[in-house]
Amino acid sequence: EEADDPRPALYHALRFAARFYFEQLTQSEAGQVARAYLKQRGIHPEAVRRFGLGYAPNAWDALLKAATEAGIRPEVLEQAGLVLPRKERGGYYDRFRHRLMFPIFSHTGRVVGFGGRLLEPDPEQPKYINTPETPVYHKGRILYGLYQARQALRTQEEAILVEGYTDVIALHQAGIEHVVATSGTALTPDQARLLARYVRRVVLLFDADAAGQQAALRSIELFLERGLNVYVVSLPPGEDPDSFVRAKGARAFQEYLRQRRRDFVTFHYELARRQGRLDTPEGEAEVARTIVSAIARLPDPLLREPYVRRAAELLRIQQVRLLEILEAQLTPSSR
Ligand code: GTP
Ligand code: MN
Ligand code: MN
Ligand code: MN
Ligand code: MN
Repeated sequence: EEADDPRPALYHALRFAARFYFEQLTQSEAGQVARAYLKQRGIHPEAVRRFGLGYAPNAWDALLKAATEAGIRPEVLEQAGLVLPRKERGGYYDRFRHRLMFPIFSHTGRVVGFGGRLLEPDPEQPKYINTPETPVYHKGRILYGLYQARQALRTQEEAILVEGYTDVIALHQAGIEHVVATSGTALTPDQARLLARYVRRVVLLFDADAAGQQAALRSIELFLERGLNVYVVSLPPGEDPDSFVRAKGARAFQEYLRQRRRDFVTFHYELARRQGRLDTPEGEAEVARTIVSAIARLPDPLLREPYVRRAAELLRIQQVRLLEILEAQLTPSSR
């Protein structure tokens, strides 16, 4: 029933919204506040164009009015996640108001949703709001920045995975274009599969907080299972890729990435040490088991060997001991 497919109308509405927000940001009087915000954050006009950034005006019906005048029905805007129905007296209102807008593109370059950021801190509201799940937006299947990164992913033959929209943009401005973001959610198997279509190697560059480190550990396993090589770069406490590249400058940041890149076994080990999990014999044994279980995910048996050797050296445990545990953890089909 192709005639009933809602998606073409949604794509049209989302494209319209992206243009509307972009024009508000770049051309309107009201957009001045957002332009000042971008300037203060060091986001340049080229990045605004490349990522199609925008500004949602501080009104209840700015998009609703403009879209309706352009012949787009409110029901379609609602299905696209752009407006919400009013509880009383009927009608609709804009979901995104007075926010910096980050359009989210599919890997084929179609606008499928938005993230919207507060311009001033507000304890009453979430810092970011996002399009809900719609017939064209499935957050677990999207990687922010993939469309803009696709060329660089091919030439660099690797992807840098970050958490945030602004991390993607800041690295892009620093000349590091092979960057995509999970947008703050835990990496999903679909996202890992999507990235595996472009590269064989992923570098995780998550925020230097507990949540970021935890997210790195979970992502490692998903990538290893798909046969991707995984490396991790840890940032200094309190930093994220955006803040750090602005503090250090592009060159020093690139150098940092080169020097601080760790294979996943070394990352596991160093994180455990920092967390004090190697302070007791029981802790050491537990960490060894965790590292071996990550190695067991490698589909390539030949690659397990050097990783086991590395783990044995770091943990100062005999290699045969680790191999015994590894054998016990391998499923019959992966032996
Ligand atoms: P800035 O503060 O603008 O530098 O953003 P950030 O990307 O550094 O934010 P943070 O590290 O807090 O979060 C990483 C990503 O998680 C963001 O880019 C968003 O995609 C997402 N995120 C953060 N806060 C929220 C929130 O309150 N709600 C939702 N839905 N997503 C969020
Ligand atoms: Mn779908
Ligand atoms: Mn964070
Ligand atoms: Mn961050
Ligand atoms: Mn940030």
